[in-house]
Amino acid sequence: MDAAHAQGTIVTSASVVTHAAGQALGRLLGSGDVLLLTGDLGAGKTQLTKGIAAGLQVEGPITSPTFGIIRVHEGRATLYHIDLYRLERADELEDTGYFEALEAGGVAVVEWGDRFAEAIPPEYLAIRLEIVDEATRALAIQAHGARYTLLASSWLAACDALEGVEVRR
Ligand SMILES: Nc1ncnc2c1ncn2[C@@H]1O[C@H](COP(=O)(O)OP(=O)(O)OP(=O)(O)O)[C@@H](O)[C@H]1O
Ligand SMILES: [Mg+2]
Repeated sequence: MDAAHAQGTIVTSASVVTHAAGQALGRLLGSGDVLLLTGDLGAGKTQLTKGIAAGLQVEGPITSPTFGIIRVHEGRATLYHIDLYRLERADELEDTGYFEALEAGGVAVVEWGDRFAEAIPPEYLAIRLEIVDEATRALAIQAHGARYTLLASSWLAACDALEGVEVRR
């Protein structure tokens, strides 16, 4: 993997497997990390986020942020769970505290992270979830920045050990 285009795909065979993959990722995350999740309705962005939260030792339920776009959860690091689906315009990002959340020194997980070009930070891990069939999801990951290249390769390595996951590099 070179630094600019570190890539891989994680194929999960069930919802619980996506959760397990998310948990493996959550264990690797630390202060300042930003993940942008993309993919259709029902692709598994929230399911993956629940796993990430478990890996960050967040207690309590992770639900889609319906009122407001950001939910904050305390764990080993603070999790900022953001969903841009309901945001109508990029100029609302500032008012909602989006940029503050990304820079707060916690872990930011952004569903519909590709909705606005203005919302994309210089460095981040991109995870695009695709529905393969009813129970199968393909998570295409792309690192943007050296930190995320390392993170991506550690995550892929961790997923090699998981049941129900196929890792493609
Ligand atoms: N392999 C899989 N990984 C993740 N979810 C799966 C998988 N197989 C089936 N599912 C189901 O797909 C749905 C994923 O829903 P989820 O809310 O996570 O999607 P989402 O991408 O967050 O959608 P939205 O854009 O509405 O927020 C769940 O009902 C889950 O049980
Ligand atoms: Mg969701």
